[in-house]
Amino acid sequence: MIKKFDVVIVGAGGAGLRAAVEIPANYSCAVISKVFPSRSHTGTAQGGVCAALSNMEEDNWENHAFDTVKGSDYLGDQDSIEVMCRDAIRAIIELEHMGMPFSRNDEGKIAQRNFGGHTKPADANDPYGKRIPVKRSCYSADRTGHVMLQTLFDNSIKNQVTFFSEYFVTELLMEDGVCKGVVAFDIATSEIHIFQAKAILFATGGNGRVFRITSNAHVGTGDGMALVYRAGLPLEDMEFYQFHPTGLWKLGILVSEAARGEGGILKNKDGERFMVRYAPTVMDLAPRDMVSRAIITEIREGRGIRGSDGTDYVLLDVSHLGKEVIDEKLPEITGFARTYLGVEPTKEPIPIQPTAHYAMGGIPTNVNCEVLMNENGDIVKGLYAAGECACVSVHGGNRLGTNSLLDLVVFGRRGGKAICEFLKTADFYELDKNAGSKTNEMIQNLFSSNGTEKVVEIRTELQNTMMEDCGVFRTEEGLQRMISKLKELRERYKNISIQDKSKVFNTDLVEALELENLLQNAEATVYGAFERKESRGAHTREDYPKRDDQNWMKHTFVYRKEDQDPEIKFKPVVVTRYQPMERKY
Ligand code: FUM
Repeated sequence: MIKKFDVVIVGAGGAGLRAAVEIPANYSCAVISKVFPSRSHTGTAQGGVCAALSNMEEDNWENHAFDTVKGSDYLGDQDSIEVMCRDAIRAIIELEHMGMPFSRNDEGKIAQRNFGGHTKPADANDPYGKRIPVKRSCYSADRTGHVMLQTLFDNSIKNQVTFFSEYFVTELLMEDGVCKGVVAFDIATSEIHIFQAKAILFATGGNGRVFRITSNAHVGTGDGMALVYRAGLPLEDMEFYQFHPTGLWKLGILVSEAARGEGGILKNKDGERFMVRYAPTVMDLAPRDMVSRAIITEIREGRGIRGSDGTDYVLLDVSHLGKEVIDEKLPEITGFARTYLGVEPTKEPIPIQPTAHYAMGGIPTNVNCEVLMNENGDIVKGLYAAGECACVSVHGGNRLGTNSLLDLVVFGRRGGKAICEFLKTADFYELDKNAGSKTNEMIQNLFSSNGTEKVVEIRTELQNTMMEDCGVFRTEEGLQRMISKLKELRERYKNISIQDKSKVFNTDLVEALELENLLQNAEATVYGAFERKESRGAHTREDYPKRDDQNWMKHTFVYRKEDQDPEIKFKPVVVTRYQPMERKY
């Protein structure tokens, strides 16, 4: 069945919905999502969205831009970072006007709190010398993503967007550098649909489900990244994967950095505030890559706490903040600690461990969200990407907390605007007469296969081994092991079967398709990590412990090759105002 729209947006999280709000109602616009929009992963974002509003103390966008560049370990493209940080202030006011219920300060202005790596100069005459934490993150208690998602969903309904919820996109229809549409199947019926469009925007989120311990919802299987990778387009900087320092022990559920922003303290088994040794100036408010490494180091050196199941954790103490502050500002995460670990955070510390949280890399784009087909910057006509699935490279090697919600509203809007410009002259391209047949064949094969391999077993093995060999710390040996494991898992994937053969809400089928996407995301991540022989941001090679600006001020572009090792090419980092410096806090 062919459905025709001027614009098709794949993904109904913050970036997708913000783009949808931008498309005027005289253009037809469809949003396809594999879950109901309000269940998108943006809804789990907790601590805030940052902008230098100066509501609590003096701040400016240049402070924000410098922090973002430094936080990225100088891998972020500085032209993109300038665009994001300059636009942040307008973007927050716009959300307020759309109806987003922010928490307020005593003056009734949008309240702001501290987050890791957000600083300002201690001495205005020495802007790049000693820096101290600044309150830059705007928030709604610890449910910022939830209220943002609801606000954008309301506004896109008002904007007469057509939603296709619980549709799973399986194929990008692209030919000779031109994007023509996508193929999707309706999860409720397993019926295949072809969406023909003049412009497609991918806003499909992240791929945290590649790892065993993750803050990502089950939907975070990197579907958009895998779709473009399969279509022959590159993925950028996939080796840079962020572990958030504070996931709930064993489960990985996010315990917002806002807890530390409000004054929470990390402690080891001796009750020591260990971050004093790793980041003496900002301590618990150091960027995430540093805090995650510090926690794993404490555990490795015997200062973690051994749980009954043999796994280790450290402690996040918020008890000294008092019940009133906890109930007003951190109700959600303290509720999780009570519900899932039986811990009472007003009285005792919360067991935490680093959790796979955010992909800094993804589908390469320029600042107008146009997808790049290569490292030379050539674009795919009619194809756009925004949000976590995209890599416009505002986060480089390590993202600062609360720059994620900002990224998706700033670049979701820019993507929407760029599409409107494109639509002034764009037309539909004729579809191949066999469009959709590949998906049909793939689904029929899965239904009829009697293979002996099970999806859950391959997925579990992938997640466990990625955690061990491509997690916070990496080595050549571990990555080589992971490359061999991926080859084995890819072979075994060819022999999978699904147990549920029905056509109605077949989640077995969905999980089989998601697994292929996870394997392809892992491939780009592992090969990128193997290739990059330095330590930068979240990519820590124990065998190459130093950042190497001489050889590695460049982005990796990984291209998939059918049944072969992927090919890796490079693109230089854009440096405008800030020359690389030693990164210490
Ligand atoms: O810790 C947090 O609340 C997460 C925020 C983010 O990833 O930006």
